[in-house]
Amino acid sequence: MKNIYPESSELHVTGKAVFVDDLQIGDNALSGLVYHSPVAHAEILSYDLEAAKNADGVKAIISCKDIPGKNQIGAIVHDEPILADGVVQCIGQAVFLIAAETPEAAHAARQLITVEYKELGAVLTIEDAMRKNMALDRTRKMECGNVEKSLAESPNRIEGTFRTGAQEHWYLETQISLCVPCDDGGYKVYSATQNPTETQISVAEALGIPQMKVEVEVRRIGGGFGGKETQACHPAVWAALLSHSTGQKVKLRLERQDDQIITGKRHPYLIKYRAGFDDKGMLSAVDVELNSNAGYATDLSLAVLERSMFHAENAYFVPNMRIRATAWRTNLPPNVAFRGFGAPQAMAAMENIMDRIAGKTGKDAAESRRLNFYSDDNRNLTPYGQTVTHNTLQMIYSRLIGSSEYFKRRREIDRFNSQNEFLKKGIALTPVKFGISFTTLFLNQAGALVNIYTDGSVLVNHGGTEMGQGLYAKIRQITADAFGLPPDVVKVSATSTSCVPNTSPTAASSGSDLNGQAVLNATEKLAKRIQAAVADEFNTTHKDAVSKADNIIFANGFVADRKHPERKFTFAEMARLMRLRQISLSATGFYRTPDIFYDRSEEKGSPFFYYVFGMSVSEVLVDVLTGQVTVLRSDILQDTGKPINKDIDIGQIEGGFVQGMGWCTSENCVWNSKGKLLNASPATYKIPGAADIPADFRTGIFTEASDSKVVKGSKAVGEPPFMLALSVWFAIKDAVSATAGHKREPDLQFPATNDAILVAIDKLRNSRS
Ligand code: MTE
Ligand code: MOS
Repeated sequence: MKNIYPESSELHVTGKAVFVDDLQIGDNALSGLVYHSPVAHAEILSYDLEAAKNADGVKAIISCKDIPGKNQIGAIVHDEPILADGVVQCIGQAVFLIAAETPEAAHAARQLITVEYKELGAVLTIEDAMRKNMALDRTRKMECGNVEKSLAESPNRIEGTFRTGAQEHWYLETQISLCVPCDDGGYKVYSATQNPTETQISVAEALGIPQMKVEVEVRRIGGGFGGKETQACHPAVWAALLSHSTGQKVKLRLERQDDQIITGKRHPYLIKYRAGFDDKGMLSAVDVELNSNAGYATDLSLAVLERSMFHAENAYFVPNMRIRATAWRTNLPPNVAFRGFGAPQAMAAMENIMDRIAGKTGKDAAESRRLNFYSDDNRNLTPYGQTVTHNTLQMIYSRLIGSSEYFKRRREIDRFNSQNEFLKKGIALTPVKFGISFTTLFLNQAGALVNIYTDGSVLVNHGGTEMGQGLYAKIRQITADAFGLPPDVVKVSATSTSCVPNTSPTAASSGSDLNGQAVLNATEKLAKRIQAAVADEFNTTHKDAVSKADNIIFANGFVADRKHPERKFTFAEMARLMRLRQISLSATGFYRTPDIFYDRSEEKGSPFFYYVFGMSVSEVLVDVLTGQVTVLRSDILQDTGKPINKDIDIGQIEGGFVQGMGWCTSENCVWNSKGKLLNASPATYKIPGAADIPADFRTGIFTEASDSKVVKGSKAVGEPPFMLALSVWFAIKDAVSATAGHKREPDLQFPATNDAILVAIDKLRNSRS
């Protein structure tokens, strides 16, 4: 297949790409603004909106009393109000909505709103929530083998606690929606949502109108990363409520600071573990307890936690494993999906176990990891009973160890460290095994609509959304390939709930797997109709030999008889012929992932259609005096199958890795004791910049293990590379460890901010006997 650029890339670099905020139809729309709670948990004793309502340019100010439908926006568990009703449960929770002629007028009005709160005391951390018994749901428990017995019999044991921090999505386009009222009492919503159907449902339920009166359209999203899987519904509903009360179009875009304060983040985790292993470092038992900070409402926390459970062992065979998992309710905004969806937190803890084991046995950490990889028949069963097939871990390992010259560089690093007191280097290899499929089974479905026009051009609509991951380009290639056409005669139209209904969010890395298959289902239907009609046409015009429908092929812009190549039509001639013959040139497609199942009461099943694997080696330089880190080199080898678009996949791998680096190193959300996010701005919240990208960045793709059951033999690539960045954290830990000559174990916090590195070095020094 011909690689094409994502259609938006030229528009992005020339600044011509139209985002919701740029839509001309949004000109003269009213500005929506949210008044949100300044206290983390309180009863609302009284409020006064009069002054704000009378301010210049203000068109409406509404509270929960003005919601015509249900005051409820929780996607799965219905525990999240659209607007606070009597009580606020986190700082940033929406209480009132303002529509005004200008953003300035809306801001001025927001200042005039007065509310009297009675504070009820906030629970902010997992430990607090544990003490107060505030579990969001039951504790889930998955077990294989006999953990207690195996731990008791293990010659070596470690135990500990591992914490990971929150991460802000920091999509470049903040949450936004534009709502336009229609003459039939319905609404057209232009939204930056990963989940058009859920957005449509939320708006319909809030307004108390049928779903057919709400159309949600998504042309492109300026980054979602999971942050717009559920929480893009909120601005859509807010804009729609304001549109409903004013009768006008309303645009509601969260300004950056509001976005950071209001929206949920990657869940912070507190993980407790015990592990048993033999003298070679071979694991016999692992017991982990996963605890996540869910925030005040459920959102996707239970699904995120479930994916943590499925990835708690990462790439390692653990014969006896127990995983217990609980999400805890706190007075923070509901935490949400974020690239990796709970897997990164659990994997970080497991990798720390592996790193510590290597430290105890004195083995090289990469070697020690390899020893425990899933491998042959006796060592390929996950704790939940799915067999790990198409396993490429060993192959990727040997190739990457060779190409990165891991062992040679390890020796050079040791030499460097022995010669330098204030600069220390570290290196680490970490693997990733990631399961592909939504673990909420019914979501594994997709729909598509393919139209062929009489000039031979093709329009595709599907349920997936484009957020920069290149889905539209891949869909274009798949469609063009199905009809033997160049990609430029195929257009992927904006995603719309009116074209393809009842879709799943674009998430779980399965956008191209699911929507690609749905598109192929539609193109196959069209191809069948075309083949029959074209064969018939050939047989009426050529009397000598019979053309069979099965022999009609689509290639190089022609529809032709493989056996009689002189019998052919251009694709456009074919399209006109079909119209004359009164045959439909439009078809819907549908796909559901087969063969996956899971039993939550037994915690057993095969929830994933397949696994993808990857590995990375990172080398860092740490300045012992300042805690400054430079990533000198990262080598990646990612299992992509046969890529539909190699360049897009490499972009996904590198982008995911760098976003993961942010989570492992500089990105850290800090709340004060009242639950106020202190670093709600780019000045204080540090995402990686261009200078933080590995100085020497070598991204390779492993294409040999293609899987024919996945669309075009490709594999999902959106999330797995995120977790490859763990190699950076472990390389930093290795460098910190070098400050004590690798004789004592460092206690490094996650993320490894400059401060955390200095603290860890200091601790090592002070523990010197
Ligand atoms: N890449 C870009 N540029 N922007 C994004 O928002 N989201 C990631 C990943 N890559 C994202 C991205 C996440 S969280 C997921 S689940 C997948 O893309 C979703 O798209 P896909 O299923 O088509 O891979
Ligand atoms: Mo991605 S976190 O599944 O949107």
